[in-house]
Amino acid sequence: MDAFFASPEQQICRTLLEAYSGHGSTIIRGSSETDPLQDFARSTASGLVSAPRRLECRFLYDAEGSALFERVTQQPEYYLTRTETSILAANAACIRELTGPVTLVELGSGSSAKTDFLLRAWLEQGERVCYVPVDVSESALSGACSAITAKYPRVRVIGVNYDFREAFSLISKLSPTLVLLLGSTIGNFSPQEMSRFFMTLSGAMTPGDGFLLGIDLVKDRSLLEAAYNDAAGVTANFTRNIFARMNRELGSAIDTDAIEHVATYDRVKEQIEIYARFTRQQTFLLAPLGRQFAIPPGDMVQIEISRKFRLERVLPYLEEFGFSTEEIFTDERNWFALLLLRRRPRYYSARGRGR
Ligand code: TRP
Repeated sequence: MDAFFASPEQQICRTLLEAYSGHGSTIIRGSSETDPLQDFARSTASGLVSAPRRLECRFLYDAEGSALFERVTQQPEYYLTRTETSILAANAACIRELTGPVTLVELGSGSSAKTDFLLRAWLEQGERVCYVPVDVSESALSGACSAITAKYPRVRVIGVNYDFREAFSLISKLSPTLVLLLGSTIGNFSPQEMSRFFMTLSGAMTPGDGFLLGIDLVKDRSLLEAAYNDAAGVTANFTRNIFARMNRELGSAIDTDAIEHVATYDRVKEQIEIYARFTRQQTFLLAPLGRQFAIPPGDMVQIEISRKFRLERVLPYLEEFGFSTEEIFTDERNWFALLLLRRRPRYYSARGRGR
């Protein structure tokens, strides 16, 4: 495995030139312009003073957090990953037939475990397969890249260690592609973030490119709340880990035993809301900034939202960004959906931007 430290644009161009002749895996690391500790400390400081207090979810996924999240996906109550995997297993060959031999670009790839079905379908129907996983977690990404190379030597893997919202310029260079956003990651965006994301993604994609989007569907409250409150307490530990990470990296001295994990479904907003509630008064030290913040007992910090979708609303909404629906894959209980979308040749956005 090799690594480059040039500018992001230069790196991807160089790597792409080699992509079809090279083999094995390459990792492109994010630019070192921002100091990661300053970035984490600043984001935490501004999140703690906003109303409601909230943290950016990209900080959930350090090495410990990524490993914990992998365990969350294996909990019996967490139906999302299992359901999405079964949909992928049943339809990977069909997806490949519909898209042709395009490069797979996965945003927020994590362990890449689910992608296995797609890689196999791509290998069965073609000679050369190029897979570009993009993830903020260096440990998850490098683990996934080595595992894929060991298992499928014919797959060219170009791992991109970026926050995927910064990887749009890469997408335009990789066409023809199938962009993957799985695991209900889109549900973790606020409505405004989601619109901005689809607008930018659509702009970065070439007409005809494919987009495979995993969405969790609105369902019974008890099923949803159980999925985010597993009995073994793994999700609660995942919530606590972001504070343990502050202790490790920012010297925060937070008592993680004073954190309760709270996850409830808001029926009006159709979203799960995940909070850490502090049972005792806390002082958060943020050493890189030389600042501290007092959090009174009973106060909550929002860790994440996970929005749930209805097909009848989300499909016309996606149309507004130039994505037409080619196929809808779902499970027999209609709990989860994988949408195969295609970037239309021309679209006139109701949101004021025509291309
Ligand atoms: N994308 C996942 C989801 O929305 C993320 C997730 C699952 C999560 N469980 C969590 C995030 C618990 C924070 C806390 O289902």
